[in-house]
Amino acid sequence: MTQWMNQVFCEDAMAGLARVPDGSVDLILTDPPYNLGKDYGNTSDQQSIEDYLAWTEAWIDAALPKLKPNGSLYIFLTWRFSPEIFVMLKKRMTMMNEIIWDRRVPSMGGSTRSFSSVHDTIGFFVRRKDYYFDLDAVRIPYDAQTKKARTRSIFVGAKWLEVGYNPKDLWSVSRLHREHAERVDHPTQKPLEIIERMVKASCPPDGVVMDLFMGSGTTAVAARRCGRNFVGFELNPEYCDVARQRLAALSETGKPVPDPQGQVPAPRKGRGRAKTAPVPSEALEQE
Ligand SMILES: C[S@@+](CC[C@H](N)C(=O)[O-])C[C@H]1O[C@@H](n2cnc3c(N)ncnc32)[C@H](O)[C@@H]1O
Repeated sequence: MTQWMNQVFCEDAMAGLARVPDGSVDLILTDPPYNLGKDYGNTSDQQSIEDYLAWTEAWIDAALPKLKPNGSLYIFLTWRFSPEIFVMLKKRMTMMNEIIWDRRVPSMGGSTRSFSSVHDTIGFFVRRKDYYFDLDAVRIPYDAQTKKARTRSIFVGAKWLEVGYNPKDLWSVSRLHREHAERVDHPTQKPLEIIERMVKASCPPDGVVMDLFMGSGTTAVAARRCGRNFVGFELNPEYCDVARQRLAALSETGKPVPDPQGQVPAPRKGRGRAKTAPVPSEALEQE
């Protein structure tokens, strides 16, 4: 096994990137701190705006050389800093989509001086025109009712009815609640459904996905479930443990997951959300 592959490294991403050879990654899929004041056991989400944007630009410049020429990048953000960060990326790559993740937040009160924010913003960027993209792997099947309604002769033999439709750029997927089986102990864990769609569309089978900010390891789990490799970094040792436990649980199900580093206890779940530092109520609605 290549030494740097299929491991969650418990370290600063900027240091960890030195392990990864240039031009070796098919997909950078990353969910950095949004700088909304969250407590990840470090101050990464509590920086001044100036420091946050300078730090973001620094990790982007350190990460992009790791991409293959036909590689892609997905980045999770919110409206607060996506304008600035998309401009940074547009100077270096071609922007293909802004995907809106509608977190399906129920209507319960919320802001009184602005509209409640219930979505995250995801940027999809590529380096070259011949970037890898497998739409067929992520098409959504039409339901039986729609198929039946399209039985008129003009639709007969219509391939699109069989292959399903393009997921489009508005993804309505519920954020994770305690009752969700995949939920673990991380305050901003992303749903596998979203991450797996990105992996299947933008990383070839057996390719490599890199996540600089692993959190609970969702990208790693998605990559292994989809038959891809991963490399990732996470500062907080507790989240590293959670990620390794999730990967170990996967390997118990027979998936080809190599032993990450060290001992791996049984997976934990549902210990509640991590502490959140005081932030304006409007910002709290972001996650
Ligand atoms: C938004 S969360 C990622 C959540 C993840 N997508 C998941 O599904 O669990 C961002 C993570 O980045 C980590 N982090 C912050 N600064 C970092 C750094 N310099 N290097 C590595 N990880 C860092 C934080 O500890 C936090 O867990």
